[in-house]
Amino acid sequence: MKQRLITIILALVAGISVQAQTNLDLSLKSTGKTVNPDMYGIFFEDINFGADGGLYAEMVKNRSFDFPYPLMGWIPFGDVTVHNEDACFRNNPNYIRIVNDGRLLRAGIDNEGFRGIGVVKGEEYRFSAYVRTLCDSTMTVAVELPGQDGYNKKKSFKFTVSGKEWQKVSIIVNSPITDAHAHLRICLRTLGSVDMDHISFFPVKTWKGRENGLRLDLAQALADLHPGVLRFPGGCVIEGNSLETRYQWKKTVGPVEERVLNENRWNYTFKHRAFPDYFQTCGLGFFEFFQFAEEIGAAPLPVISCGLSCQYESNEVVPMDELGPYIQDALDLIEFANGPVTSTWGKVRAEMGHPAPFGMKYLGVGNEQWDYIYVERLEAFMKAIRAKYPEIQIVGTSGPEADGDKFEYLWPEMKRLGADLVDEHYYKSPNWFFSNARRYDNYDRKGPKVFAGEYASHDGDNKNANNFKAAISEAAFMTGLERNADVVRLATYAPLFAHAEAWQWNPDMIWFDNLRCSKTPSYYVQQMYAWNKGTDVLDLLCGGEPLAGQNGLYASAVREGSKIIVKVVNTGLKAEKFTVTLKDAGELKADSISCTTLHHDDLTAVNTLDAENVHPVEIAEGKISGSKLKLKVAAQSFNVYTVTLK
Ligand code: AHR
Repeated sequence: MKQRLITIILALVAGISVQAQTNLDLSLKSTGKTVNPDMYGIFFEDINFGADGGLYAEMVKNRSFDFPYPLMGWIPFGDVTVHNEDACFRNNPNYIRIVNDGRLLRAGIDNEGFRGIGVVKGEEYRFSAYVRTLCDSTMTVAVELPGQDGYNKKKSFKFTVSGKEWQKVSIIVNSPITDAHAHLRICLRTLGSVDMDHISFFPVKTWKGRENGLRLDLAQALADLHPGVLRFPGGCVIEGNSLETRYQWKKTVGPVEERVLNENRWNYTFKHRAFPDYFQTCGLGFFEFFQFAEEIGAAPLPVISCGLSCQYESNEVVPMDELGPYIQDALDLIEFANGPVTSTWGKVRAEMGHPAPFGMKYLGVGNEQWDYIYVERLEAFMKAIRAKYPEIQIVGTSGPEADGDKFEYLWPEMKRLGADLVDEHYYKSPNWFFSNARRYDNYDRKGPKVFAGEYASHDGDNKNANNFKAAISEAAFMTGLERNADVVRLATYAPLFAHAEAWQWNPDMIWFDNLRCSKTPSYYVQQMYAWNKGTDVLDLLCGGEPLAGQNGLYASAVREGSKIIVKVVNTGLKAEKFTVTLKDAGELKADSISCTTLHHDDLTAVNTLDAENVHPVEIAEGKISGSKLKLKVAAQSFNVYTVTLK
């Protein structure tokens, strides 16, 4: 004791930081706990302009003139009027008429996009519209891209319109400028008039090159996570602030021009962050969600309304004897995703270009609902779904909080009903995440499994919400998800996206503007887990206990074939030495070791659109000494060690 004290004093005198030593035992004996291949995933909600104005690559806002105020997002000049007689589309009847009778110098209209239209010089964009003219002569229309300074580089792209029947025109526009806040300008150049509807402007380069496609950089960022599951399309948007405005998947499939516009509840939910121009065109609809999930290797997990609108807002309740159509929507959705092409909804899927089933396994019924009114509705859904599709895993909810009355009431009810998974949500401080790494250690192994469907740590004010401290607290907490992977079968951070100039909710995993995106430190934590999820949980103990916060340290381990993966989080201010002793290894020996680390000296560090300050790096760290691994873990770091066995 005296000797140790002297050593510490000497070290301090010498100005050397003392490294403590932690011993861990890593047993290779099977724990019988497997990691769900779908375990770490993503939760997509159309919030923060995440769909329209975000992942959905359409750059024109209110392209069909069917927002409640038909010219919202548009700046007309000259003689421009809105009509709906003899419409081009039944569900979106409004269109505009531009008249150039020679009295005014110009006649046309600008679209302001979603906080601007983001274009890059030399890149190609596809302009399209449905057009007709009631004149006998041919009309010439020009498309231009004035920058945010209002200056149009005099480059215009022209198309002609003739004939009284609606027809689609499409031209490629090569942008003369780079500008995140350009406008799309449409000008009638000849005397006469044109009618126009569904005016659309997409980059040619979208995810998989699709015309009604996804923004490439944002879709790629999601694909790069290797997510196991995609929960969609929300969140509160599935509930609606009223039943009328709930998300109805059937209105989001089929030809994009006929998809029914819905309000977006994030338009006005937060009075201090009101976005009156926020609507859902559903151009990114259920078909596209399923398709994207398949392409990025994620299991689709749609969530549907259970017949309750948001219980914080209007709290409208569908009477039990009128719930039939809601339940039918659920059954039809399963048919849409998985049914044969000969079935009614399987045929719709096939006609949209995907005859093969999507292989949907999970279905969420309701989002953050509570009370008996939820339980009795879920029970009715479950009865019908179990009878027709017993293979579908049904996700119930534990309400909007991580504990408390609603949570305590719902969990036993979910057990009684036999829900397959229970969705838990927690948006909390870093300290909550640090101190909840053992949350699932004592969960009932016989009841429903856990889906951590929405969680994020936020460190204080909005500016810093997505800082490194928040991320490292999530990494620490997730050692507990990994250790309990037999009961926590799915986990999705939330929400995914935020437009830097139009957000309502913070923190978010990926921030973007009209040209760039920024991956937060939390993104990289998710990626490090998803890339290293392993298949089997191993026992990794410190003095017989999981390392879950002692001295600010956290650790967990998994195995995948001849690889073991050890995750270590050091939240302390000094580096920590670890000796990990491999036990029950039989003939196997550690052969090689590599390390990926996420570290920053400043816990308040953030990534921005201009600078990526926090990101994972490979480091030459970790040594093998017989049956021991010797690790030196930097202060304030999250580390993934991969050890190959021979
Ligand atoms: O992710 C934002 C919101 O948070 C979700 O819509 C809701 O489920 C939760 O309250």
